[in-house]
Amino acid sequence: MNNHDNRISFLGGGNMAQCLLRGLIAAGHPPNQLTASDPVSACRKAIDSLGANAVASNQGAVDAGDVLVLAVKPQVLRQVLAEVRTAKDKLIVSICAGAPVAAIAKATSADQPIIRSMPNTPALLRAGITALYANANANATQRRLADGILSAVGKTVWVEDEALLDAVTAVSGSGPAYFFHLMEAMTEAGERLGLTADLAATLTAETALGAALMARQGTEAPAVLRRKVTSPGGTTESALRVMDAWRVKPALLEAVAAASRRSRELAEEFAQA
Ligand SMILES: NC(=O)c1ccc[n+]([C@@H]2O[C@H](COP(=O)([O-])OP(=O)(O)OC[C@H]3O[C@@H](n4cnc5c(N)ncnc54)[C@H](OP(=O)(O)O)[C@@H]3O)[C@@H](O)[C@H]2O)c1
Repeated sequence: MNNHDNRISFLGGGNMAQCLLRGLIAAGHPPNQLTASDPVSACRKAIDSLGANAVASNQGAVDAGDVLVLAVKPQVLRQVLAEVRTAKDKLIVSICAGAPVAAIAKATSADQPIIRSMPNTPALLRAGITALYANANANATQRRLADGILSAVGKTVWVEDEALLDAVTAVSGSGPAYFFHLMEAMTEAGERLGLTADLAATLTAETALGAALMARQGTEAPAVLRRKVTSPGGTTESALRVMDAWRVKPALLEAVAAASRRSRELAEEFAQA
């Protein structure tokens, strides 16, 4: 969607804010409509170099934006929320992990339109996926606006139950780390079998990308794709038999469930603080 008439302000101008700014500018958003506040002068310099407006005070960013994107680390969010308290009519889009909508509303206003989102780190390459949840105060236009902002760094999906963001966090938020873990192991295995570290890493990364592209087509489920590359008595079957014996799938099921539980706990801790 075209957000180009909207003035968007980021509170916190670090990694995620800069990657969203780059994505928005690449999508044609006028840089002079974009503002970010950050106490760190190196961050402000980086924002300036994109052509966006960099300010040191959060109040400056609040005043400059119709939409306020909360892009600070969760530990400083409370302090920042105190500064957006006066912006009652403005849409708040939070990308902060573990900050429930009710806690943001409590610190701002009960009428505040708030959209909570969970991006993931491939957003840095504009290959992210973000799940969004809107409270009842956010209207359809505001939902489209938030969708347009997060679409600048990848795909977007919506959930209508905020509790599902814990599952999203466990699958796609933390998910890149699971794949990196698998890739570390595959690269190390390749090295043990005599490949150079570079070659093993290239083979692993390209294989991960190729497998992801096949799975993303969605024409066949991963289980079908897996069976298709597993000939009876072949090499893949030997490997998968070892994975079954070591209970890799049950371990992954338990790992993702643990991440979801931790996400819920962090949200509860934030709400109670
Ligand atoms: N990175 C990801 O892949 C990812 C994925 C999902 C969600 N998120 C969420 O995105 C948010 C931002 O993450 P990030 O990786 O972009 O963090 P980051 O690079 O640390 O950016 C946050 C920026 O905010 C600045 N800051 C600190 N206190 C501030 C204040 N009072 N007012 C304004 N700015 C302040 C920080 O400065 P200092 O360095 O001095 O503290 C830093 O430059 C986090 O809440 C995180 O949970 C990130």
